[in-house]
Amino acid sequence: MLILRVDPLRPDPEKIRAAAEAIRAGGLVAFPTETVYGLGADAFNGEASAKIFKVKGRPADNPLIVHVRGVDQAQEIGDIPAGVLEVMERVWPGPITFVVKKKANLPDVVTAGLPTVALRCPAHPTALKLIELSGTAIAAPSANKAGRPSPTRAEHVVEDLGEAVDVVLDAGPTFFGVESTIIDVTRGRPVLLRPGPFTAEEIKAIFGDVEIPAFARGLGEAEVALAPGMKYRHYAPDTPLLLAEDLGEAAAYLRSRGLRVAVLCALDKCADGDAVLRLGSEPYEVAKNLYDALRTVDRLGVDVAIGPVLEERGIGLAVMNRLRKAAGFRVAKDIKDLEKYASELARRVLR
Ligand code: TXA
Ligand code: MG
Repeated sequence: MLILRVDPLRPDPEKIRAAAEAIRAGGLVAFPTETVYGLGADAFNGEASAKIFKVKGRPADNPLIVHVRGVDQAQEIGDIPAGVLEVMERVWPGPITFVVKKKANLPDVVTAGLPTVALRCPAHPTALKLIELSGTAIAAPSANKAGRPSPTRAEHVVEDLGEAVDVVLDAGPTFFGVESTIIDVTRGRPVLLRPGPFTAEEIKAIFGDVEIPAFARGLGEAEVALAPGMKYRHYAPDTPLLLAEDLGEAAAYLRSRGLRVAVLCALDKCADGDAVLRLGSEPYEVAKNLYDALRTVDRLGVDVAIGPVLEERGIGLAVMNRLRKAAGFRVAKDIKDLEKYASELARRVLR
């Protein structure tokens, strides 16, 4: 594995060229985007794209996002209605991915055999330069082992995937820290499949309307046919995570049961714990630090981590979607819920 440090805003073309060579040769390149690091391969090379699934341990029925340098390249891959093209022109490059009907030229492995493809043009100079110099579109999921929090730093990629990657472009921490917004525009009314930095409010302002299914808020499992990847366990630390309406009450109660508790604090919600991780005092800061904190939790030697319930506005919708999934949808509303979870935990801890 070759790790190349680059300046995120002025990436050295020589280093990007080396990474682009690896893409062209059928290799795997981990690269930064404005959201999280991606694990990229030539989207038109079926064998190279298949390696992504193997290295990540990703189920074959979970399609990849195809990264393009702009609307022109998007049109070579997807069948894009005029109205959607106009929107793409306005919002790309940016952290929003569009699911559209695909053309016949992409290998089936990339889209997991679906008739649709997810297209994204990342707003990160390093990523854009890599796509340009590769001379192809780049299929790339987040560069983590399946089920783990997405990587927001090159170190996370190395931690999860190590030698399986040919080149890692290390541009430091990513800007947003949560994955791109995904909307499905194949069904008339746009459907939000995954909330992200491009907010639901912004989508509504553009399209006039957007359907937000319960799973996009992190309220339970997705309907498989609509969002194949959303059914899998996600973002989860190995340490059990529980969200609590009242962090102070939850921390005090769980500690009174003899459990060692890490508290994830965000905005004005915090409590005393055996360890305290501060995500930030501003919503975008919270998003940016979230995945690193979920990884850090496992190094603290605690029995349980608790996290806050935040307002689902702006980027807060994306943060709560990730937190709810990472917590296995467990939210303690009152002391009764806490008693129930503490008993479950005690059984697990004592076993
Ligand atoms: O910010 C991001 O989007 C990052 C960076 C690397 O670009 N990528 C990313 O990819 O998060 P990944 O594979 O971890 O998540 C992509 C999601 C998966 O849940 C997948 O099921 C869904 O997009 N997806 C891909 N193609 C789809 C399609 N044709 N229809 C519905 N969902 C699709
Ligand atoms: Mg992912």
